[in-house]
Amino acid sequence: MKVLVTGGCGYIGSHTIVDLINNGFDVVSVDSNIRSSTQLLEGVEKITGRKIRNYKVDLCNLEDTHAVFHENRDIVGVIHFAALKTVPESVADPLFYFHNNIESLVNILKCVKEFNIPNLVFSSSCSVYGNATELPVVESTPLLEAQSPYARTKQMGEQIIRDYSRVNSTQSILLRYFNPVGAHSSALIGELPLGRPDNLVPFITQTAIGKLPKLTVFGHDYDTRDGSCIRDYIHVMDIANAHTKALQYLLDKKNKENCEVFNLGTGNGVTVLEAIKAFEKISGVKLNYELGPRRPGDVIAIYANNTKAKELLGWEANTGIEDMMRTAWQWEVALRDRVLSN
Ligand code: NAD
Ligand code: WQD
Repeated sequence: MKVLVTGGCGYIGSHTIVDLINNGFDVVSVDSNIRSSTQLLEGVEKITGRKIRNYKVDLCNLEDTHAVFHENRDIVGVIHFAALKTVPESVADPLFYFHNNIESLVNILKCVKEFNIPNLVFSSSCSVYGNATELPVVESTPLLEAQSPYARTKQMGEQIIRDYSRVNSTQSILLRYFNPVGAHSSALIGELPLGRPDNLVPFITQTAIGKLPKLTVFGHDYDTRDGSCIRDYIHVMDIANAHTKALQYLLDKKNKENCEVFNLGTGNGVTVLEAIKAFEKISGVKLNYELGPRRPGDVIAIYANNTKAKELLGWEANTGIEDMMRTAWQWEVALRDRVLSN
């Protein structure tokens, strides 16, 4: 069974392709490489021993997107990862985000409709909850004001799919990821931020390896157990496996509604300082960090209730924070070794 993965050259897309192939699916990818190269797909090929076709197509171009669907009429589903995802960039250039993330989704849906593709899985985000006041968040927790144009594209994306699902037969799942981190255990694929990372874990590993001089902990006077923010970090391979399970759930016709939503988090809140401690423990590296001011726009704490995904998808997030950090570190070290050996 063939699956079309958009954004297959990116971080979560590439790890998901590995899990899909391990579970017997064939995959074709569409990625314009606006935020990636073919490097991760080459890593996927080494891990799986399979050649993966990527169509270098901008999904905002309907004609090119249509041509991909035309050539792959036999797909059983689409997993739509492709999007821009940098919060501060979206604040600085909202139209770029609305154009890219919404236009691409609408084009995907036009093709899904025309080619009668039965199943769709969409990458959403815990950022749709905004500054949630009740924790942990459940899927039915009301969505509050989006804190960035990026988050708004995810709220809008979910709404567009819901409205579409009301009048079309496509079965959809919206997956709300919390904070995906870590890398495949082979260290052949991992997170590959272009330029200076915004996210905590690549910032930690790049500081530890010497690419960046120092990490600043954004805020140490929050009302949390150690004063730093709490997040639900989740291993990228656990996220990846949830996509395979979500697709299988749709293929097995286990869904009760045309459009269903699932949180993908571990359910455990971890503070920034705890994440740093876990990193130092597994790496043996003393991290150069300082306690600094709060970052504007940060929520104090957010973590998931993941009962729905466990019960309905039969999914488990098995990897703990130390293994998340270990695989992220192994990937950073592998990247350095590759540069040194060239
Ligand atoms: P990523 O940037 O590594 O991968 C996204 C890929 O999509 C990139 O390879 C990029 O080139 C491609 N792309 C973007 N716009 C495109 C377009 N118009 N046409 C074709 N390709 C395009 O990001 P990721 O971390 O793998 O994220 C995947 C999805 O998960 C995104 O939708 C993101 O918003 C969502 N998400 C990510 C996180 C996270 O922390 N990584 C958290 C929640 C949700
Ligand atoms: C995690 C924690 C920072 C960097 C973002 C998006 C969200 C979702 C996941 C896509 C926070 C702290 C960070 C640093 C720090 N993505 N931190 N020093 O902000 O929870 O979520 O990624 O959908 O939409 O907003 O992730 O990794 O940036 O931050 O202290 O140098 O680490 O303050 O508490 P965030 P993050």
